[in-house]
Amino acid sequence: MKILIGITGSIAAIKTIELVHKIAQLGHECKIILTRGGANFVTPMSLASMGADVYTDDKINAYKTSDIMEHINLAKWADYILIVPASANTIAKLTYGFADNTLTATILASNAPKILIPAMNQQMWKATATQNNISKILQLGFMMWGPASGLQACGDIDVGRMIEVDEILDKLQKLLSSKCTMSETCQQRQEGPNMNEYNNLKGKRIVITAGGTIEPLDPVRYISNHSSGKMGYGLAKEAVYRGAEVTLIYGKTTQAIPNGLKDVIHVTTADEMLEASIQHATVTDIFIGCAAVCDYKMKIPNPQKIKKSENNLVLELIKNPDIIARIKQLYPKLFVVGFAAETENIVNYAIDKLVTKNLDMIIANDVSTGVFGYDTNKIIIIDKERNMFATEELAKEYLAKIILDKIFLYTRTDSRSMEAPSDATYR
Ligand code: PMT
Repeated sequence: MKILIGITGSIAAIKTIELVHKIAQLGHECKIILTRGGANFVTPMSLASMGADVYTDDKINAYKTSDIMEHINLAKWADYILIVPASANTIAKLTYGFADNTLTATILASNAPKILIPAMNQQMWKATATQNNISKILQLGFMMWGPASGLQACGDIDVGRMIEVDEILDKLQKLLSSKCTMSETCQQRQEGPNMNEYNNLKGKRIVITAGGTIEPLDPVRYISNHSSGKMGYGLAKEAVYRGAEVTLIYGKTTQAIPNGLKDVIHVTTADEMLEASIQHATVTDIFIGCAAVCDYKMKIPNPQKIKKSENNLVLELIKNPDIIARIKQLYPKLFVVGFAAETENIVNYAIDKLVTKNLDMIIANDVSTGVFGYDTNKIIIIDKERNMFATEELAKEYLAKIILDKIFLYTRTDSRSMEAPSDATYR
C-alpha cells in the first residue's frame, strides 16, 4: 500500500521515526509531508533515513515546475493518509478546508481515506473549539485513532497523548486487511449501511430501552424530558427485521409498538426501568440504553398535590440509579451500548461516559437543537478503543441500520473482532 504520512507540530512527532521505519518494514511504500511545526521536532534528514521521501514547505527552488503540482501528485499517489501526530492547529485547518501548506493542500485534493492520530495538551484537546472541530471533521469522513490518556510532555496527566506506535501499527494492519472496520473508509460511508442485513442478527437477543422516564413530584406533576422514543423504536424495529429476539422496555413515548415486536414492557420511572432491565438482561446478548433516563427524582414524592403557597418552591431531588452502568456491572459479558446526549464537548463527554459506565460502545449525539422528538439526527459512534465513526444528518430509521451494523460486527465473534466478516457485503 502507498501510505502518505503527514507530520505536524507536536512533541509526539519524534515517535514518527520509529513509526515510518516499522511501516516500511511491513512492506508499505511511505511518503512524508512534514509541516513547519513538525519540522521543529523532527528533521527531514532523520525521516528520509528511514526510507521515505520527505516533502516540506521550504523549497530550495520555489519555481521548479515539478513542485507546482506536488500536492496533486501526492494526493493521487496515496492509498491512505495518516496525519500523525495531528495537532489542534492542523485539525482546525482541515475541518474548514484550509489549503495553506503542502499537507493541508494535499489532503484537500485527495479522496483517499484519512486518519487523524491526535496529540496535544489535555486542555487544548478539551477546548470547546477543538471539540467542535472534532465533531465536524468526523462528519466529513475523517477517521480518528486516539487520543490516549496519561502523562503528557507538559506534566499534565489526562487525555490528549498520541496512542503508542504499536497500537497505530495494529490498527493500520486491521484497517488494511479488512474490507470494513469500525472506522470505515470514505467510500463506504457514501455507500451506506450493509445491504445484507436481513436476518443477520438471528439468534441474538437484544434488550432496548427507549423513551423518557417520568419521575413524579406529586400525584399530578412530574419531571421528564422530550424523548419521543423514535430512536429506540427505530432500533427495535430494525433489530426485529434482522431476526433478533427483541425486548423493548419503554417509558414516555409518542410511538406505536412496531409490528412483530411481542416482548414489550412499559415502565414509568427510572427505578422501574432498572428493575425490568435487570430482569431481562439475564437472558440477553446485547443491551442498548437509548432511553432518556431522568438523572434525578424526588426524594419523597408528595402523596398529595403540592399546594401553591410560597413564591419559591424548593424540591429535594436525589440521584436515580444508573441503569446501563448497573447492567454492565451485573452482567460484564453483555455487549452494552449507551447513548450520550450532550450539548457541548460532545466527543469528550461521550468518552467519559463510555469509560465511567464501562460500556462497549457509545453513540454520541448533540442534543442542543432538534434531536429529541425529531425524525433525524447525526451521531458519532465510539467504541472502547476510541475508534470513531460519524454520520451526516440522517433519518433515525437509517441511523438504526448503521448502529446495528456496527453492533453486528462487534458481536458476531467471541473475540469481538474489529475485522469484517469474510462475506461482508460492504463494497
Ligand atoms: O427518543 P428520541 O426523541 O428519538 O430522541 C433520541 C435521544 C436523544 C433520547 C437518544 O438519541 C439519546 O441520546 N438517548 C440517551 C439520552 C440520555 O439520557 O443521555 P445521557 O447522556 O443523559 O445518558 C447516557 C447514557 O446513560 C444513556 O444511554 C442513558 O440511557 C443512560 N442512563 C442515564 C441515566 C441513568 N440514570 N441511567 C442510565 O442508564
